[in-house]
Amino acid sequence: MSKKQKTNFLCNNCGYEALRWLGRCPSCQEWNTLQEFSVGNKSRSGSVSVRAASRPVAITEVESAEESRWPTGMAELDRVLGGGIIQGSLILIGGEPGIGKSTMLLQVSAALARSGGKVLYVTGEESSRQISLRAHRVNALDTSVLLLAEHDFFAVETAIREHKPDFVIIDSIQTLFNDQFSSSPGTVSQVRECTAGLMRLAKETGCSVLLVGHVTKDGSLAGPKTLEHMVDCVLYFEGDRHHTFRLVRCVKNRFGATNEIGVFLMTTAGLNPVDNPSELFLSQHSSRQAGSVVTATLEGTRPLLVEIQALVAGSGYATPRRMADGVDHNRTALLLAVLDKRAGLHLQDHDAYINVVGGVQVSEPAVDLAVILAVASAFRERPLPRNMIAVGEVGLTGEVRAVARLDQRLREAAKLGFAQAVVPRVECVVPPNFNVIPADTVSEAIDAAFGGDKDS
Ligand code: TYD
Ligand code: MG
Repeated sequence: MSKKQKTNFLCNNCGYEALRWLGRCPSCQEWNTLQEFSVGNKSRSGSVSVRAASRPVAITEVESAEESRWPTGMAELDRVLGGGIIQGSLILIGGEPGIGKSTMLLQVSAALARSGGKVLYVTGEESSRQISLRAHRVNALDTSVLLLAEHDFFAVETAIREHKPDFVIIDSIQTLFNDQFSSSPGTVSQVRECTAGLMRLAKETGCSVLLVGHVTKDGSLAGPKTLEHMVDCVLYFEGDRHHTFRLVRCVKNRFGATNEIGVFLMTTAGLNPVDNPSELFLSQHSSRQAGSVVTATLEGTRPLLVEIQALVAGSGYATPRRMADGVDHNRTALLLAVLDKRAGLHLQDHDAYINVVGGVQVSEPAVDLAVILAVASAFRERPLPRNMIAVGEVGLTGEVRAVARLDQRLREAAKLGFAQAVVPRVECVVPPNFNVIPADTVSEAIDAAFGGDKDS
């Protein structure tokens, strides 16, 4: 006989328990009130958990107090977070080793402390001495920043309960270890359990937790993907360790918009916010060079001007090489095929290299036209006018498609001294003294771009 789960009967009206179904409750004498429930659902106190479960309420009746945000004191980071750190939230910060996670969190700790917050900085990677030396250098010394060099989750928990900090920084989650689980630190189950434990603590004590997460070689966060699901906000450091600037991109935010980016410069005194990143990315775009095109991409709510460079060179191989850095590789292959088929630019026996200057990653299709024009310019060895930008998505039939918020992009370009733009044929507000050149197809765009050559 198969093992059958034991069931009892419970009166909906008075809570009377019976071992078998009865038409009338012997306790309250009501008819038809007994319902079956499985004994396994019974909680230790003897009540039935099904009955204790929360009830659905109308969405309009839920109290929705405005979340209180605590500005971090770094405007660029606040922009990414959507205005500041929400009380009791969990924020995960990922990035390659040496990109500046610890530096930023130390600066943030000091800024939070200076605005009246109490910060517990748990370091599992560096000693307290190392952190303090760095704090000296980046001017992040404050008595309200407590340092704890610890790997043990329970020691961290005790410190949180004892000192009741407003912010807890865990550098890094991979070094934290809960000895209730036999696996070693950094493994999937340890990372998940420690994060779950911190989440409980955050909800219980109201502190906000900032976790540093390592990334694997392919750029995703080490540890389980569930980590990203568990936390409220995920930020990634982008950019190249060899460049001086760093981008912080928000890829998940339960309390605000995603895809905002913050731009910082790594200096000898830590990370400095950059107020006008377009200027920084275009700082070396001064001479007219074949293969270089500037485009305006929209990162979150802010337009960002970036330079796309292409190099086309005769190929020594049967299969020409295609390399793309900063733009999607497959998208680039597609655009090269469009150029071949729709604009008659035969690149079969040429290698093509495409790069976004400064290590920026652009994922928006609005940069398509700039990639196309950069390759065309490199192939023809003719530079575009220096004061021209190109914006537009390119379709498979070679058509130039509309992009979101073109006005805003053109305004940013005008602000930085550009005077003309090759754009899709759409209605838009053109900045004063700015010339827009609408193009329906890739061929038109190429003609327009090189036709405008003589004017500049
Ligand atoms: P770090 O914050 O330790 O990186 P992570 O925690 O992401 O591994 O950053 C270390 C790098 O930053 C290191 O290579 C040196 C550089 N750096 C500066 O250039 N200036 C500074 O003021 C600091 C603190 C670090
Ligand atoms: Mg570090």
